Amino acid sequence: MKARGQFRAFPATALLDGIRTPWVDLNGPLGLVSPTDLGIKAGRAVLQRARLDASEVDSVLAGSMAQADFDAYMLPRHIGLYCGVDQAVPALMVQRICATGFELLRQAGEQIQAGEAGTVLCVAAESMSRNPIVAYTHRGGFRLGGEVGFKDFLWEALFDPAVGISMIQTAENIARQYQISRAAVDAWAAQSFARAMAARAQGWFTDECVSVSNEMFEAPGLLPRGIRLPRGIEAVTEDSHPRATSPQRLQQLSPLYPQGVQTAGNSCAVVDGAAAVLMCSAERLAGRKPLAWLRASSVVGVAPEVMGLGPVPAIRLLLERAGLSLDDIACFEINEAQGAQIVAVQRSLGIAPERLNACGGAIALGHPLAATGLRLVISVARQLRASGQRYGVASACVGGGQGMALLLENPLAVA
Ligand SMILES: CC(C)(COP(=O)(O)OP(=O)(O)OC[C@H]1O[C@@H](n2cnc3c(N)ncnc32)[C@H](O)[C@@H]1OP(=O)(O)O)[C@@H](O)C(=O)NCCC(=O)NCCS
Repeated sequence: MKARGQFRAFPATALLDGIRTPWVDLNGPLGLVSPTDLGIKAGRAVLQRARLDASEVDSVLAGSMAQADFDAYMLPRHIGLYCGVDQAVPALMVQRICATGFELLRQAGEQIQAGEAGTVLCVAAESMSRNPIVAYTHRGGFRLGGEVGFKDFLWEALFDPAVGISMIQTAENIARQYQISRAAVDAWAAQSFARAMAARAQGWFTDECVSVSNEMFEAPGLLPRGIRLPRGIEAVTEDSHPRATSPQRLQQLSPLYPQGVQTAGNSCAVVDGAAAVLMCSAERLAGRKPLAWLRASSVVGVAPEVMGLGPVPAIRLLLERAGLSLDDIACFEINEAQGAQIVAVQRSLGIAPERLNACGGAIALGHPLAATGLRLVISVARQLRASGQRYGVASACVGGGQGMALLLENPLAVA
C-alpha cells in the first residue's frame, strides 16, 4: 500500500540560522518567565546572530502549547513586535503539539515557496512551569454543594482522553508490543545522559544556546516588558537536566505504572525553553551560506495508543518521496518522548544507534513541547556542518497520534 500522509519538497528554502535558550527543569530559574518573553529573547538572539535587521522579516510564525500567560493569544504578535519586526508584518500561531517546531519551518517554507514572504522569523517558546491550574465551568458560578475543582493543565494535557491513557502509557503499550525490556530502556536513557554530558564537556551546546539574564525589551510605541530571574540568579547559561547517570542508578527508580518500563529517569524531562530559526528564500541569502537547506517535510497519523511510533511512517514517507535511503542520512535527531518509544523507533527503522541523537536526546535535555522541533533541527544542521556530511533528518512523535519529519541538507556538502 502506498504510504499515506502529507509530503512536500522545498527546492530552495534556507535555514539561515538558529539558536535556543538553555532548557531548564520545571519550576527552575525560568519557571516564572512568560513564554512570550522567552520567545522575544530567542527571536532577538537569532536576528543578532544572523546579523539580520528585523525590518527584513516579512512574516512571523510562533508556537507555544501552554496558555502560559494572559497575553498568550497575542504571543506571536508580541514576539514579532518586541523583536523589532515592522508593525505591518503579520504574525501567526502554529501548533502541532510536539512537532510544532517542525510545523513552523514547514509553514515558513510554504510561505517562501508561494512568494508570500522572503524572510520568516520562526519562534517557539514553552513554559511548562506556567501551565495554568484551570477550571472550565466556573464562569457561570458554582452549584451549591457541587464540585469546585481546579485541574493541573500540564498533567491533564499529557493524557489522551480519546484512548483514556497518558503519554507515558502509550510508551508502555509500545514496550509490550515490541517486547522492549526495562534494561533496554534504561540503557538508552543512560546513553542519552552520557552523550549530553560528553557534548557539554566539548562545549557543543555553548554555540547552540544564548544565555538568559535579566533584561528589558523595548520597542517604539510599546510598553516595556522583560525577563526577571529569581533573586540571586544572574544568568541561566546551560541546560539543567543532564547529569552523570549510570544504568545502575536508573534501574533503582520505580516504574511510573505497575510492571511498566518507564520511570522518571528514562522519560523525557519536563523543561522550560525557547528557540528561534530564521528561514529565507535563496534570493534573500544575498551571498550568505545558510546553516542548512530545508529540503522536504512529511506528516502522518498513527494510532493514538501508540503515538510514539509516529516517526516510523513519517521518516519512511519522507525518504521514499525524497528518493533517498536510510544510508543517505548521516544523522538523525528523533525526539525521545519516552525511552521505550525511541528504542522502538530506532529498531523499527534500523537506524544505527551512533547516527541517532548523537548529542543526547530529550531524556537528558528535556522536551519543552513546542520548542523541541527547533532544537532537533538546529542540532541536525550543526552536526552536518561539523561533520561535512550531506543529509540529516529531524523527527518527532506527537501526542494524539501523529509523526512528522524534516529533511535537511548541508549547503557546504552539496555536490
Ligand atoms: C516522568 C515524570 C512524571 C517524572 O516527573 P517527576 O516525578 O516530577 O520527576 P523528578 O525529576 O522529580 O524525578 C523523580 C525522582 O527520580 C530521580 N531521577 C530522575 N531522573 C534521574 C536520573 N537521570 N538519575 C537519577 N535519578 C533520577 C529524581 O532525582 C527524583 O528522585 P527523588 O524523588 O528522590 O527526588 C515527568 O518527567 C514526565 O511526565 N515526563 C514525561 C513528559 C511527557 O510525557 N511529555 C510529552 C511526551 S509526548
